[in-house]
Amino acid sequence: MPKIINGKPCYSQFEIFPIKGYFSKFGAHQTMLEDKIRMTAYKNALRKAIIPGKSIIVEIGTGTGILSLLAARYGARKIYTFELGPIANLAKKIISDNHFENTIEVITKPFEEVSLPEKADIIVSETLGLIGIEENTVNIFYNVKQKFGKKDTILIPYELEIYCCPSSSKTVIPMKKFWENSIESFNFSTIKNLTSNNIYSRLLINKASLLSQKSICNDYILGKNKELTNTSNHRFIINKNGNIEGFTIWFNAKLYKDIAINTQPGSKTHWQQSFILCEKPVRLRKKDCINLSLSFSKIDDETVVEWKYEIIRSKQLLLEGFGSNRDIINYSKGKF
Ligand SMILES: C[S@@+](CC[C@H](N)C(=O)[O-])C[C@H]1O[C@@H](n2cnc3c(N)ncnc32)[C@H](O)[C@@H]1O
Repeated sequence: MPKIINGKPCYSQFEIFPIKGYFSKFGAHQTMLEDKIRMTAYKNALRKAIIPGKSIIVEIGTGTGILSLLAARYGARKIYTFELGPIANLAKKIISDNHFENTIEVITKPFEEVSLPEKADIIVSETLGLIGIEENTVNIFYNVKQKFGKKDTILIPYELEIYCCPSSSKTVIPMKKFWENSIESFNFSTIKNLTSNNIYSRLLINKASLLSQKSICNDYILGKNKELTNTSNHRFIINKNGNIEGFTIWFNAKLYKDIAINTQPGSKTHWQQSFILCEKPVRLRKKDCINLSLSFSKIDDETVVEWKYEIIRSKQLLLEGFGSNRDIINYSKGKF
């Protein structure tokens, strides 16, 4: 569980993008292995889905090897697990230290380039990003199902819902404010411009911060939906007085039957919640109305999130704004 220090979660709060290199760090794996909600959900899903002595498993994203080790413990006959990062070498050692090297095969080539001797009974992956989608999970499940699946292959997870809701948040504004000032009297306004229109991750948003009913951005059926691209239009009616500072985003991943991981406000997973910041806070009253258009797409292998909103009171426009994480992506690619 994330510790709260001076009212803030001790996990680093950072922009969602880019994620490259993140999984080479032990801290990243510790964070995932420490997350009891995540671990329990995946454990239960694997335990219930596996037929001991029979199930053939394909995993994408071995990491430390934990999900494959659990699958082996629950009796899977053979596990093919793919990992592209350097952590694959450690996973191999951990798997042999636990005497499962004959059951678990770690493959370090892209799955697109590999043929397997048998089809998968179960395809499992924990490539769930901070807003669910940005680790490419929709695309991975579609392609892996096509390549290694059969008609009745079980996918874990099998469905991914993304939600949003207008919210107040006392955590995001100080982060944004930090970059508004000069630093040691130097001009840092370039970072100010990037951070003021961005999507933030790993914030603890509580339920009381939500200012209206949630709305669903997309419901991806994994293995069937091929494209991440999606635009959703939302109309929120504010149901309590409060400052809107932005929009909270979270996901619900359905792993197996009714076993799910829900990162909704108030939940305590390591994903926490993500947040799109409005240009400035606006004091809202009950029955004020917000229109939000939210788009997800993939450009040059990066997940692009774009947003556009209008805040309306009795047909009068109080604030409108738009933004995207494209500048951050360009900066990370050296195109800034
Ligand atoms: C969120 S971590 C999960 C690791 C481990 N399965 C666990 O549950 O702790 C995702 C892992 O997937 C790997 N990964 C992401 N996309 C991949 C792909 N297309 N092929 C192989 N590995 C991938 C990353 O390098 C990372 O180690």
